[in-house]
Amino acid sequence: MKKGIQYILLLAVIIVLGVGVFSVAKRLVGTGTNKQETTSKAKKQEAGKAGKDAPEATTEKKVDNSVPMTNLKVTAPQGYLRVGNSMKLVIETEPADATNTELEWTCSKKDAVTVTDQGELTPNPGSEKNTVTVTAKATDGSDLTQSFELRILPAIDPSKPMVAITFDDGPNPDTTNVMLDALEENYALATFFCLGQNVGYYPDVVKRELELGMEVGTHTYSHQQLTALSADALDSEIKKSLQAHEDAVGVKPKLMRPPYGAFNKSVLQAVGSYGLCCMNWSLDTEDWKTKNADATYKMVMTATDGDVILLHDIHEYNVAAVQRFVPDLMAAGFQLVTVPELYENRGEPLDPGTVHFRTDPTTESSGETTAASSEDGATEEKTTEEGTTSN
Ligand code: NI
Repeated sequence: MKKGIQYILLLAVIIVLGVGVFSVAKRLVGTGTNKQETTSKAKKQEAGKAGKDAPEATTEKKVDNSVPMTNLKVTAPQGYLRVGNSMKLVIETEPADATNTELEWTCSKKDAVTVTDQGELTPNPGSEKNTVTVTAKATDGSDLTQSFELRILPAIDPSKPMVAITFDDGPNPDTTNVMLDALEENYALATFFCLGQNVGYYPDVVKRELELGMEVGTHTYSHQQLTALSADALDSEIKKSLQAHEDAVGVKPKLMRPPYGAFNKSVLQAVGSYGLCCMNWSLDTEDWKTKNADATYKMVMTATDGDVILLHDIHEYNVAAVQRFVPDLMAAGFQLVTVPELYENRGEPLDPGTVHFRTDPTTESSGETTAASSEDGATEEKTTEEGTTSN
């Protein structure tokens, strides 16, 4: 009897254990099966995808009457651009009935520029002081690409100090080019008032000035004191100079700096009749007098917000000064802009037939200077001392 009960209990334990082991084993095996199922499902899906895509691609090829691009040309209106500005690229594709003219844009510096489908290029903040290569690539499989270089200049902040450096009497390839190097390296701009006759001799230097974004104005044709000329001679000095620019580089200046800063009503009238304004200066470095790089450097560094600084790019003794003051003015917080940029950002017009010396300082920086207060007097002196300097 006792033994019988023991057997029954033992049997019950075996059955319970057996069921437990079986179910665990089943679960383990089951998981394995599921895994395998998942894997094979995925494989089937992949195979399905490939299977779906492959025939479609074949079908496309079979009925492909798309017209590929045979020519792609992208032209940038200029090789430089300030952050904050944008420009419209000229995009030409051939043939006219190309099926897909969509382009993919890339830049040698990541995220430096944005180009819209309409070809509007905008440099992005933080990309300034870089020269990048922008590339357009056809997306129709034709592998056509077009690239161009772009100098990205810093944005102008109108609330911060800025000055316009101006160079007279050039160009002189030996000296002007080295000064341009310094400006180029620092992504700075300046204004060059060229003599018509020199423009004719050295058109390549003027071309380079324009390509870098410099403003090019006229300093008349042959550096005569305009206030001493007859009406005809005065007219001829301006007319011949503008023609020299047009012939050499295809661009007519919008600014005129009279030799020696000499002007009167007749001069302004003549200048205005050609759509030009008369741009004098507020800070004379007197480089022509001191002929000393150190002295010129020191004079430039007395500049205050809104100044138009007078120098000459034809003198060897100015090269070292330019190389020094360009980075130093920027380090001192000055934005180096062209004359039109200075006036535009200060909201002051440059109307034809008017005369200008400098822009008003911003309220932010107006109290900062000593040179600014003495400049007004200096300016008046300059405008009346016609013919007494070598400017
Ligand atoms: Ni001059």
